[in-house]
Amino acid sequence: MEDLKYDSTERLAVDYVEGILQPTPTCDTWDQIWNFQARPDDLLISTYPKAGTTWTQEIVDLIQNKGDIDRSQRAPTHERFPFIEWKIPGMESGLEQANAMPSPRILKTHLPIHLLPPSFLEKNCKIISVARNPKDSMVSYYHFHRMNKGLPAPGTWEEYFESFLAGNVCWGSWYEHGKGWWDAKDQHRILYLFYEDMKRNPKHEILKLAEFIGKNLDDKVLDKIVHYSSFDVMKQNPMANYTSIPAPFMNHSISPFMRKGAVGDWKNHFTVAQNERFDEDHKRKMADTTLTSHIRFL
Ligand code: A3P
Repeated sequence: MEDLKYDSTERLAVDYVEGILQPTPTCDTWDQIWNFQARPDDLLISTYPKAGTTWTQEIVDLIQNKGDIDRSQRAPTHERFPFIEWKIPGMESGLEQANAMPSPRILKTHLPIHLLPPSFLEKNCKIISVARNPKDSMVSYYHFHRMNKGLPAPGTWEEYFESFLAGNVCWGSWYEHGKGWWDAKDQHRILYLFYEDMKRNPKHEILKLAEFIGKNLDDKVLDKIVHYSSFDVMKQNPMANYTSIPAPFMNHSISPFMRKGAVGDWKNHFTVAQNERFDEDHKRKMADTTLTSHIRFL
């Protein structure tokens, strides 16, 4: 990271790929991203931003390494799991990292399914998709914009609220993203999980993940994984809490990456009027999907 050439005073500019807002380095290299060649034994973690991607990555890594925390601490999250569409000037891109990585690889994407490089589905790769209720996703994403220079400035909370509802944020609409992956899950090798279930019963969801990946976990290993992937432990783990990214780039004193890790923090942010507006919009956008019954606002 020492050679990071990034002007700490400027945020990345954004533009559109097929109508989806993206940082411009991603737009500029879109052809290469679209033509990315997945390998059949790749495991892809696919989420809308702030759904618990890092948490899921840590769990999957611990499962692969049978709960061995020393193995899981071999490198920071962003080096262990190439983020295929991510490109920052002066840093190795997600594609370069992925192409240099021996198999089996665990990769990350936030792309909506219609922008997923086709080779993932052609090669029948296993995909883990995680969704988080959109109110908490919005709050978490807002704070992430504040501390992360790789994203545009969020504006005021009121302005951000409108941008999020309009889908005018990086990686587009929460709704298009969630529904697209939900619809695809029965036609492909996709395990679809929910952040709220992972919070309520982590052991249960970790077992689901292990079964999907094809690993047997004994009780001792399972308990270790529950422990090392808990919010409090991950918050202190420099290989999982993003503190390895230089401060001009991600400023944890503005808002830590490992912020609250809670369900229902939206209640501390939404006004009554915003909540009413959100619920009405949510109802309309979710009218055509069975995903709706899985989204709970606790
Ligand atoms: P908050 O901002 O609500 O705290 P992503 O990795 O997709 O960017 O998601 C980040 C969100 O997941 C943040 O939410 C972060 O705190 C939360 N998170 C990370 N690790 C977690 C864990 N072990 N348990 C619960 N939440 C976790």
